[in-house]
Order: sequence, then structure tokens, then C-alpha cells
Amino acid sequence: MEKFVIYGARPLAGRVRVDGSKNAVLPMLAAALLADTPTTLLEVPQLQDVVTMSRVLTALGADVRLEGGGRRLVVRPHGLNSFEAPAALVRKMRASFLVTGPLLARFGRVRIALPGGCAIGVRPIDLHLKAFKALGAEIRLGEGCIEVQARRLRGARIYLDYPSVGATEQVLMTACLAEGTTVVEDAAEEPEVVDLAACLRSMGARIQGAGTKVIRIEGVRSLQGARHATIPDRIEAGTYMVAAAMTGGEVFVDNVVPEHIKAISAKLKEMGAEITEYSTGVQVRARRGELRATDLKTQPYPGFPTDLQPQFMALLSVARGTSLLTETVFENRFLHVAELRRMGARIHLEGRSAVIQGPADLSGAEVHATDLRAGAALVLAGLAARGRTEVWGVEHVDRGYVDLEGKLSRLGALISREPLRAEELARARPPEPVPEWLGRHVTLPAAVK
Ligand code: UD1
Repeated sequence: MEKFVIYGARPLAGRVRVDGSKNAVLPMLAAALLADTPTTLLEVPQLQDVVTMSRVLTALGADVRLEGGGRRLVVRPHGLNSFEAPAALVRKMRASFLVTGPLLARFGRVRIALPGGCAIGVRPIDLHLKAFKALGAEIRLGEGCIEVQARRLRGARIYLDYPSVGATEQVLMTACLAEGTTVVEDAAEEPEVVDLAACLRSMGARIQGAGTKVIRIEGVRSLQGARHATIPDRIEAGTYMVAAAMTGGEVFVDNVVPEHIKAISAKLKEMGAEITEYSTGVQVRARRGELRATDLKTQPYPGFPTDLQPQFMALLSVARGTSLLTETVFENRFLHVAELRRMGARIHLEGRSAVIQGPADLSGAEVHATDLRAGAALVLAGLAARGRTEVWGVEHVDRGYVDLEGKLSRLGALISREPLRAEELARARPPEPVPEWLGRHVTLPAAVK
């Protein structure tokens, strides 16, 4: 197990390139199971979550390989021979539940473990199940597993009671091979949903309206593999934008779609940062001590993303004045508050809102990441804090950031990754089992076993 060691209070400067979107590529890997021929994905971030999803596909009989010196991830679905998803992997990563729709469409039957909750909330799957039922499937629950069966999938009108990203993606994939037309109302409008639809369309699917509240899918008989490049990761981009603002630095964040980060840019501007947008990048400049408080509320896209809430909380803690931050997407996404307080942040929780009084003079401490984005927030706090910060729980951060410490070091941060010492290991949370072949920065092997 490892920790990040950071010596903070240094302004970041330079250029950083954002990797492909984790949340776009995970459903695309599941979608590759719908095709009869191989799918090639480009701009795939080499992250632990991608490895986990690749292992789910491999366990189902597909062949997943990293080719072209790591530039292409190729999924060959010919060997797909199982409708039972491996329970250990599904419980480890919630997004692996996304194989349910493709397996149902291919086999007419799926058996899969119920994905558990996680640190940020209960995260039910009722909307996914509602959609499967509407498409003609029968559902049985028992022994921590769920079985979904459908002799024929038939298009339907599905009203999602909430624009869930995962449920929208699940319907898109399942309805592609259903008979007739499916209309999804109150669909999620996230760029990752739009990118999945684009990938499915290049596989032969007929989808209209992705990126709006109503999506229409005309079922087709079969899909063929395609070649698709994933969009840049807007959450990774937002994290580096906050890093620049928080340290009073000047950073060009390369490989972003400005449209995707509008809410983030708007909030940073309100706080007094200078944001200059270019066609594929954004320049962020801020002066230390000159950031102002602001209020923000997380919402489905195009609202402010919940996946940047912890990072913005760290940023608001060093801004002048009182900010009100409200989390509406997940019910328990405030576990980073206690850790930020240990570094000197003044944050008071009231139900789903946090009142943040700034500016706090953050100082280094030993802090523990409870989930991916909380970990990122603590690293950002460490970059702004005086003295030495240790962020434990690096395995959470590795799920979603490619070479975080390398990219930050190249911007001038003093950050290193170090193993926990023997006496520290006893105090650490139990490690997630990591397969031996995972390199330090999670390099996919030629064949994923
Ligand atoms: C995806 C993202 C995650 C992001 C989230 C919200 C991936 C792999 N993950 O997660 O990083 O934080 O979108 O932008 O893309 N809900 C239900 N019933 C359901 C499904 C969801 O009540 O059947 C609730 C959830 O508990 C949560 C809210 O809806 O409170 C949003 O969840 P959802 O949009 O589904 O998020 P995910 O797809 O799980």
C-alpha cells in the first residue's frame, strides 16, 4: 500500500494533458459485447477501473488486448460464452453492472451480483431494473444476485424518474438489439452518454437525441464492431483546473472539450480565476489569496458535476468569504470533510449542504482518502497547504487518475508516491486485492487474464 507525500504551497505552472474519459470508456467496453466483430477503442486511459472492466469481459469469454504500444484497446467478442458475470469483480466496481444490458440482449439471460453501495451512498439500481422490465424482461432477486431473462426484448417508452447516467446507458445498450422503437424520457444528458451513443451508432445502432432529455432508439438485428476514440475526461480536466487556481498558478490544461467544462469554468471565473478557453484546451490563472467564495450545487449535466464537488470544497476552503455547497446527487458524499478539517479547513455540515468559511490557512497533515474524488481533493489541499501532507488510500485515486503524481510533478509540485512503512500498514485500511500483473501506474498487459 502506498501514500502520496506532498510539500505544498508552491504555485503550479506549465501544461498538462488530460487522458481519455474513464466514465465514457467503461460503458463502451460493455457495449463491445453487443457486436459480432472486434471493437477498437482509442484514447483509453490506463486505469485500474479499465483493468477491472476488462477482466469482467475476459471472464465472460471475450478477448481484451492492448495493442499499438498501448494506444488501442481491442475487444474481440467471438468467445463470449457466459451469461454469469463474476461476482467478485461486480462487487468491486459498480460500473461492471453495465454488462447486464449487453448480456441480456445477446443471451436473453443474465446472472449478476447485486452491486453494493459504496462510500458515497447506497446507489440503488431500481431504474435499471425498471427499464429491463419495460423492455419485456423478468427479474428475479436472491442470494445477493439478480437474474434477468427475456425471450424477446421489445422496444418501449421508458420514463426514468431521475436522469441516472448508468440507467440511461444501460437502456441505450439493451434497446439497440430490441425489436422496435424505444423512447427514453428524462434521460441523462452527460457527455459520456453522448459518447456511448456515438460509439454505438458507429457499430450500426440507430439512436437519436443523445445529449437531450429524450432519446429514441430503433432496434436493429445485429451490431458490428467499430473504431471509436473516447472523449477527454472532464473530471480530470476540472481537477487540474482547481489545482492551478488553488496554488495561485498558471496552467494550460490540454485535451478538453470546452463545452463539457462550462459549469466548472463558470464557477472558477465567479471565484476570480482567469479562464481562457481555446478550441481544445483551457488556460487557468489565479493569484493566491485573491479567490472569492461562491455557492454551488451539484446537479446532473449540464449542472455542476458531483465528481468535482470534493475538489471544489478544498478550493472553497482557501477562498475569501463564506460558501454554501449543496450535494444533490449522492446522499453521503461528504466523507472528505473530516479530513479537510484536519488540515485546517473550516467546514460545517448541515444535512446535504456544507458551509465553508474561508480563507483557511491550510497546513500539512496525515489524511485518508475514502474514495476516488475525495482522494483527489486531499491531494489538492496538500498542494495548497504549508508543510508536509501525507495522503493515504492512493489505490482509490489510481482508479481514476492516470499518473497523477507524474503530471503534477511536471507542473512543479513536490509530490511523490511512497510505500507505507511496516508500522503504518497496521493502521491502514485493508487493501483491495490487486492482481500481480498490475504495474505501478497500472499498465495493461498485452492480454488481459
Ligand atoms: C455515474 C458516474 C459517476 C458519477 C455519477 C453521477 C460512471 C462509471 N460513474 O455513476 O462517476 O458520480 O454518474 O454523475 O459513469 N440512482 C437511483 N437508482 C438507480 C440508479 C441511480 O436511485 O437505478 C441514484 C443514485 O443512487 C445516485 C443518483 O441516482 O444518487 C445518480 O446516479 P447515476 O447517475 O446512476 O450514477 P452512476 O451511473 O452510478
